[in-house]
Amino acid sequence: MANIVIEGGYKLSGKINISGAKNSAVALIPAAILCDEKVTISNVPNISDKYALDDILKYLGAKINDNGESITIDPTEIVNKEIPESISKKLRASYYFMSSLLGKYKKVSMYFPGGCAIGARPIDQTIKGFEALGAKIIKEGSKYTIYADKLTGGNVYLDMPSVGATINTILVAVRAEGKTIIENAAKEPEIVNVATFLNNMGAKITGAGTSEIKIEGVDKLHSCFIEVIPDRIETGTYMIASALIGEKVRIENVIPEHVEALTLKLKEAGVEIETGEDYIIVSSTNKMKAINIKTMGFPGFPTDLQQPMSTFLTQCDGISTIHETIYENRFKNLDYLKLMGSNIKTEKDKAYIEGKIKLKGTFVEATDLRAGACLIIAGLIAEGKTVITNIEHILRGYSNIIEKLQNIGAKIKIE
Ligand code: EPU
Repeated sequence: MANIVIEGGYKLSGKINISGAKNSAVALIPAAILCDEKVTISNVPNISDKYALDDILKYLGAKINDNGESITIDPTEIVNKEIPESISKKLRASYYFMSSLLGKYKKVSMYFPGGCAIGARPIDQTIKGFEALGAKIIKEGSKYTIYADKLTGGNVYLDMPSVGATINTILVAVRAEGKTIIENAAKEPEIVNVATFLNNMGAKITGAGTSEIKIEGVDKLHSCFIEVIPDRIETGTYMIASALIGEKVRIENVIPEHVEALTLKLKEAGVEIETGEDYIIVSSTNKMKAINIKTMGFPGFPTDLQQPMSTFLTQCDGISTIHETIYENRFKNLDYLKLMGSNIKTEKDKAYIEGKIKLKGTFVEATDLRAGACLIIAGLIAEGKTVITNIEHILRGYSNIIEKLQNIGAKIKIE
């Protein structure tokens, strides 16, 4: 299996272009099958999660025209059949097919989804949404058969603002009869992107991006076009790398408001950041001070940037704290940062990171996607060579990451 090899200590400078958001694209692709006609999605990132979803589409009989940047999906000849576990377990987002197939055909049969091993990640809130709209659930082991004679709008209160449960409930509600209200909905920009896509098809969704979303069901959905929004987590990952070892790195094609929490935390630590309409320029400084991070749903500090940020904190003066409130097991990367020389203590959902300790390159493992991002950044600043194994996790979610980093001066390759 291939590894990522990084020679640390090379300054980053120049321009980096941000791709479409993974967590939007992986919901937009399954949402496409709700439509009665062809749809086109542009600015699709080049990530392996996309290809895993394409496999499910092809398995169901959808026609796909993928030119690398945009993808046209024709769902008119789909056959609603059971999706095998071998393909649904490849990624978390496979469960968006649960809701789009249920919404369109009123029946679906598939297995518990996959995804990074960062916590238990139950799907009870999604199931609650389905039930509120009139669906019945039969669970046999990890297999779910979900069906309804008729789907009717209903009111759903989510126990936590779950991104997946919010999107899944929207996907079922758009073709249900009557009005659905989701209370305590997640507010992430990716949800707005999905709602815009569905509204472009003729759905009637209001309130996406707030904690109360209303959906008026419609009978038909027509051909449309949507552009995937820029990836705010990819943006943040390159901002963090640049804050550590960048000289005026210009990160382009971004929506600065989507990374406001990170921008303000980096500035609080002393990093110089210039923000334009669709770009952000970041330079490193040697005078960063310790800060505290607490992960929250949008617009709070995103859990998906918590692991990349841990590398940054190893270089801040003093002891920084991370409080991870979303996932129970998202600190696996810290063992490898310790192996690289940092001094970190963890206590349940908190990590205490002592700063200003020089990291040294060694063999490390990308245990999950954002752990991989953490270790790439660590490799960029470390003394000597870092070898990262299990890189398929990284390639699941970062579009052309090797080329992008090489273009701004990093010594990084796949070997
Ligand atoms: N939760 C439940 N029950 C549910 C749903 C969620 O207990 O029915 C819990 C989860 O266990 C977790 C928390 O609620 O502790 C938040 O989960 P959420 O449903 O919001 O997450 P998700 O939809 O599974 C998406 C992203 C994640 C990102 C989270 C939070 C996709 C495919 N995944 O996951 O992305 O961390 O939202 O923003 O969109 C990543 O990109 O690295 C990644 C893990």
